Amino acid sequence: SSGKINIAIDGPAGAGKSTIARMVAGRLSYIYVDTGAMYRAATWYFQSLGIEPEEEELVLQTVKDLVIELIPGELGQQVLVNGQDVTEQIRSLAVNAKVSRYAQIEGLRGRLVSLQRQMALRKGVVMDGRDIGTTVLPDAEVKVFMTATVEERASRRYKEMKEQGEISLKQLEADIAERDRLDQEREISPLRQAEDATLLDTTFMSIEEVVETIVSYCKIHGMESKA
Ligand code: CDP
Ligand code: CDP
Repeated sequence: SSGKINIAIDGPAGAGKSTIARMVAGRLSYIYVDTGAMYRAATWYFQSLGIEPEEEELVLQTVKDLVIELIPGELGQQVLVNGQDVTEQIRSLAVNAKVSRYAQIEGLRGRLVSLQRQMALRKGVVMDGRDIGTTVLPDAEVKVFMTATVEERASRRYKEMKEQGEISLKQLEADIAERDRLDQEREISPLRQAEDATLLDTTFMSIEEVVETIVSYCKIHGMESKA
């Protein structure tokens, strides 16, 4: 068949989801949707208003005024909150520290999930996050649950952030382990592998190997790569 499919990639922080999802989307000329960026953008927004995750009522009242745009560009995806470019700000340690708390709020998730489903209606989407295969796109044709050891994931993040010189490997490992715990233990769509998802441990895999593996799953579904 020549029809487009949807691809769901879930897993813990630093497993390689966004790097690989972006490359798979490039190979297939598909659209990449980074749902983590949406939770990060929401976190930045509430923090800029001084609203903490514990203030659920306030979060739910103000979320109505939140407009998130993901704009694909040559230098990667641009993230806008109510028209303001927050691409850099959403990767800060301050956002890291709070994002999993806001992500527990059911009303906020409901709003972001419905936006995510709209983005995937026409198919041809590679979407990464925590609950894509289980909740957002349970009918996705290809589902991958991507993991790696926490040491490997922290060391990957460390290499990215070293230039900023503001965090140690040990701190990063603790940050990631804490986020994993909150994401796995929350009540509303926790991080877990969908029953029909393929487990992919990337600890000892190169980026190219992971991309090739997922593109091969897509071909099994009749999806031809342009490469
Ligand atoms: O890039 P990294 O793996 O560090 O995280 P991310 O994908 O940007 O996601 C940041 C946080 O958003 C996660 O730790 C989750 O708490 C939340 N998230 C979520 O709850 N559901 C999603 N579909 C995506 C992210
Ligand atoms: O999106 P997620 O948090 O799952 O991970 P990422 O931000 O895509 O990947 C974290 C880092 O690991 C990036 O710098 C990737 O280049 C690197 N990576 C790697 O070294 N080997 C892989 N097989 C996958 C990613």
